[in-house]
Amino acid sequence: MKVLVLNASPRKDGSTVGILKQIVEGINKEDQIEWIDVSELSIKPCAGCLGCRPNKVCVLPKDDAQIIGRKINEADLLIVGTPVYWSNMAGTLKNLFDRNVTTFEDFSTGSFPKPCQEGKKAVIVAASAAPWPFNGKGAVNSVKTILQAGGYRITGIINYGGSALGKELPQKIAQKARKIGNSL
Ligand SMILES: Cc1cc2nc3c(=O)[nH]c(=O)nc-3n(C[C@H](O)[C@H](O)[C@H](O)COP(=O)(O)O)c2cc1C
Repeated sequence: MKVLVLNASPRKDGSTVGILKQIVEGINKEDQIEWIDVSELSIKPCAGCLGCRPNKVCVLPKDDAQIIGRKINEADLLIVGTPVYWSNMAGTLKNLFDRNVTTFEDFSTGSFPKPCQEGKKAVIVAASAAPWPFNGKGAVNSVKTILQAGGYRITGIINYGGSALGKELPQKIAQKARKIGNSL
């Protein structure tokens, strides 16, 4: 199984990375895992031209958006982790998704958009400073909307609130992450 991890946190010792690492730790060692740091990608913003709809791929000059789009297509399982910024996903991740509309939805049939990743599983991780109920609900819901539009079945969600810089990941969260990894 090909697994693609999209980590949107630029903080290598942060909560998002900590949780993602635990999930990866739990995954079968025979699986092929690729880890992408979204904050290190070079991606121009979406021009809103909708040229991708008939073309099935973004028509802007090739950058990391099309490269990651191909990796998403090739992966059997997608794990998306984001820090919560202003109650939503990190802008870098949103930018990647904006440039990959047709990686998730096929508009070329003329009728209702067809999901492109049907039958695949996905996991969502969000890390925020605020504890429940002010944590990453907005971020999780936004990522979920995109992945479900693509036809993914969301089999695990970790919405970790209450992170503070330098604070260790609670055991309960680490265990939940490993359990999700084991189940994939
Ligand atoms: C630009 C910015 C916006 C943020 N907005 C929120 C927010 O709306 N709610 C929240 O609880 N924390 C917010 N935070 C705090 C981060 O979610 C928190 O530091 C989190 O642990 C970051 O994830 P990381 O540890 O994986 O980097 C924000 C941080 C930044 C830098």
